[in-house]
Amino acid sequence: MPRKRLIAGNWKMHGSVEGSRALVAELTGSNPSVDAQMLICPPAPYLAAARDWVSGSHILLGGQNLSEHVGTGAYTGEHSGAMLEDLGCSHVIVGHSERRSYYHETDALVAAKFIAAQAAGLVPILCVGETLAEREAAATQAVVARQVGAVLDAAGVGAFASAVIAYEPVWAIGTGKTATPAQAQEVHASIRAMLVERDATIAASLLILYGGSMKPANAGELLAMEDIDGGLIGGASLDAAQFLDIFRAAAG
Ligand code: 13P
Repeated sequence: MPRKRLIAGNWKMHGSVEGSRALVAELTGSNPSVDAQMLICPPAPYLAAARDWVSGSHILLGGQNLSEHVGTGAYTGEHSGAMLEDLGCSHVIVGHSERRSYYHETDALVAAKFIAAQAAGLVPILCVGETLAEREAAATQAVVARQVGAVLDAAGVGAFASAVIAYEPVWAIGTGKTATPAQAQEVHASIRAMLVERDATIAASLLILYGGSMKPANAGELLAMEDIDGGLIGGASLDAAQFLDIFRAAAG
């Protein structure tokens, strides 16, 4: 069965209520696709409003982060997976490289968040990727294998039946440098191969997104690769015209 592509926008810490409303209005006016899904991940404070803005449209809503704690509790400043689900989110990003580097999220914490997301009925988008130094040290495969392996060990391969992986080379994020289609495909294929070893059926249906300076100009050639099933888009997701161009590239 062909994998239905996913184009996801990670807005990071950008926008305002009015600006976000206008951006979503442009996206909801777009045509849905039978071949691709569209997801937006606004900042958490805008999710409640965004639920109304996307209501009745083809656009899915996701969070950018969640607490590893399930249920409620005294965790000032945090929000749970259940709260995201309550706000109409279907997905949540976990282990983004900005969380790993600026907020010191370890592989173990990322795995706990992945499990907490699924406990709340959300599809986690697990981000993995190497730094420039790691790529130059030929450690890309080892880093990605470690990051995926930590979640596989903690959650089990069955958990990947309702999860997404995003390969985001850190050196390509927000830099204008994109992995070449061949570089990205090589890593995507290695991730899928890791999963194949444990469960071939789950591996075949797993969506593996590429993220890192994906733009309308390079989306087509990246998405043409066998194991690139969509994109996790930062900068270009803040511009409706660019995001829609990428979506159309994915929708074929
Ligand atoms: P850019 O598309 O701005 O490089 O960001 C990618 C990213 O980090 C998405 O999560």
